[in-house]
Amino acid sequence: MGMTAELTKTDIPGLTLLRRGKVRDVYDLGDKLLIVSTDRLSAFDHILPNPIPGKGKILTQVSAWWFKKTAHLVPNHLISADLPAIQKSLPSGVKLNPEAFDGRTMLCWKAKRIDAECVVRGYLAGSGWKEYQASATICGHRLPPNLLESSPLPAPIFTPATKADEGHDENITIKQLSHVVGGDSVAAELQQLSAKLYTFAAELLKEKQLILADTKFEFGYRDKQLIVIDEMLTPDSSRVWDAKSYKPGTTPASFDKQFVRDYLERIKWNKQPPVPSLPPEVVEGTLRRYQEFLRTVTS
Ligand SMILES: Nc1ncnc2c1ncn2[C@@H]1O[C@H](COP(=O)(O)OP(=O)(O)OP(=O)(O)O)[C@@H](O)[C@H]1O
Ligand SMILES: [Mg+2]
Repeated sequence: MGMTAELTKTDIPGLTLLRRGKVRDVYDLGDKLLIVSTDRLSAFDHILPNPIPGKGKILTQVSAWWFKKTAHLVPNHLISADLPAIQKSLPSGVKLNPEAFDGRTMLCWKAKRIDAECVVRGYLAGSGWKEYQASATICGHRLPPNLLESSPLPAPIFTPATKADEGHDENITIKQLSHVVGGDSVAAELQQLSAKLYTFAAELLKEKQLILADTKFEFGYRDKQLIVIDEMLTPDSSRVWDAKSYKPGTTPASFDKQFVRDYLERIKWNKQPPVPSLPPEVVEGTLRRYQEFLRTVTS
């Protein structure tokens, strides 16, 4: 993949901006959404000052690939990621310049979002590892003692988190999730759909010598049906490790945002503004990992 011109923010005359997320600009089309993945990068809930040129395209390509691969298991919001096809369904007069939008734009069904992150973990890492060290539990799941960092869990666990509009997402129990989503049966369905997707993806990645340590899904209602929204199994939303060099008790080589988090931990940033910018080698290293992720997963 060659160099891509960076895109940090969009403005589409004739369309209504519904929301600018940390990464995506979302435009309202009535019952549909136009979602543009920019090159913005967030870490520890802050947008970093410098973009990763081409990252939004990679996320869009990875998500579209998984959405198509898993549509038979769980329905999702993707209608099209093909710019000429998308262009045809926009109001006349709205023109998307291919140079800016090609490869990073999706036409999707608008859903009523469930305000929870549906996380599935097969291995002990990140906030799961932190919580385990403090209490030997994750989100109410009691785990065996003496697990190491990156250890496989006896079975994948569902560890939902709140989706805070501002600030940090917090791990919650299934009981608390029921409260957020309006009932035990909805929480159980979210758990079941998330587990199904995790298992499918983990098995598929295993054949490519990759370990899906954990991943996060978002769901919403389209009419009365739960569908997957936002992104799917991307390096932003997942921890993916190289199976060949993996060893419990160590921090595995990863193809995801961990590289950026490691840098920010190394410089001891206090996770409060001002947000430090990334040196060129961290930008390039991140882009390389994301490209490798796209290549390995979709090949
Ligand atoms: N089909 C959909 N229907 C309704 N809302 C959606 C749909 N797909 C995505 N969204 C929402 O659009 C926004 C996309 O922006 P982005 O992914 O940058 O979100 P964010 O919440 O700021 O960051 P992050 O997801 O990384 O925490 C999110 O708020 C997401 O929940
Ligand atoms: Mg998102």
